[in-house]
Amino acid sequence: MSTAATLAPVPMNDLALQHATIAAQLEAAMAQTVQECSFILGPAVVAFEQAYAAYCGVDHCIGVSNGTDALTLALKCLDLQPGDEVITTPHTFGATAEAVGHLGAQIVFADVEDEYLTLDAARVAERITDRTRVILPVHIYGHPADLDPLRTLADDHGAHLIEDAAQAQGARYKGDVVGSLGVAGCFSFYPGKNLGAYGDAGGITTSDSAMATRIRSLRNHGQVAGGAKFTYGELGYNHRMDGLQGAVLDVKLKHLERWNVRRREIAKRYDEGLAGLDGLSTPSTAAWADPVYHLYVIRCNDRDALAAALKERQIQTAVQYPVPLHATTAFSDCGAAVGDLPVTEKACEQILSLPIFPELDDTQVDRVIEAVRDFFGA
Ligand SMILES: Cc1ncc(COP(=O)(O)O)c(C=O)c1O
Repeated sequence: MSTAATLAPVPMNDLALQHATIAAQLEAAMAQTVQECSFILGPAVVAFEQAYAAYCGVDHCIGVSNGTDALTLALKCLDLQPGDEVITTPHTFGATAEAVGHLGAQIVFADVEDEYLTLDAARVAERITDRTRVILPVHIYGHPADLDPLRTLADDHGAHLIEDAAQAQGARYKGDVVGSLGVAGCFSFYPGKNLGAYGDAGGITTSDSAMATRIRSLRNHGQVAGGAKFTYGELGYNHRMDGLQGAVLDVKLKHLERWNVRRREIAKRYDEGLAGLDGLSTPSTAAWADPVYHLYVIRCNDRDALAAALKERQIQTAVQYPVPLHATTAFSDCGAAVGDLPVTEKACEQILSLPIFPELDDTQVDRVIEAVRDFFGA
């Protein structure tokens, strides 16, 4: 019998394994980009932008430097003024709210739904004002937020819906791929994402042609795309996508559906293996959602003890995220005190992410299930 010390680790992710499965395709695409010396933007980025726009069912995708910059550029296009408000979730990676803050707009946090941990339209309705310009839900862990009621609220108040879809490439809301449901969808292609580049990269999806044109200009220092060089229409940024990232993403996009199918299989295996444990809940799927399990997040009151027990058996876990944004220093001036957003605050004490990535095999999944069940004495 193997002891804990001799068990092979079960990691949260293994990018080397994924690379090995498509190494030849990736190396050919990267070699071509190097040969062309198309290091910034260029044909591979254009090819990826077109393919990703088609995949999401929108007219445009604009490749940018990372997901944070995708949010910044989408928000920048709405010409937010100081005092304008953006309502978002406190249960997210800091970049969501960071982008809002850098543009000088007021971040307003509304609590999440207990079941899916996505922005709760009923709580948004309590915080919406005539200064609200944007509602910014996050499809957290790859599970879409309930967008219809959020869009109705936005429409009723002359505000816009922007999706933070950084964790949800390929997820569907009522059959539509996310990124196609608001005025813009913002994606991160950070290496560990369901669709990950080989460095920082991001993208904005939209069917608003004027917005797409402006973002193409803004990402390139305000120079008009296709216009005169060194002529600046407005103050822009250097938020361009690298050619090599476009080459990698264009290859990897062809595998995304298959990888998401495998993530769903793993999630189903966890759902079944962990069912019926008193004190543990597995993630719920809403009727509107076809999630892609960027993360598989369980909830239990003994979270830290469970994580320690899994670590003993060489099983990695993570907590995404341990502290709600409004409880951190950077976001402490956003009008929400600790105690104001109880669903998020409670969830942060209970959540635990178990390993999930397409190359994880059933034996590894079963080891995780067995370890969790043993912890609960089941
Ligand atoms: C929900 C969410 N929004 C935004 C971002 C920012 O993306 P990036 O790290 O590519 O800037 C991330 C990245 O992890 C994220 O998870």
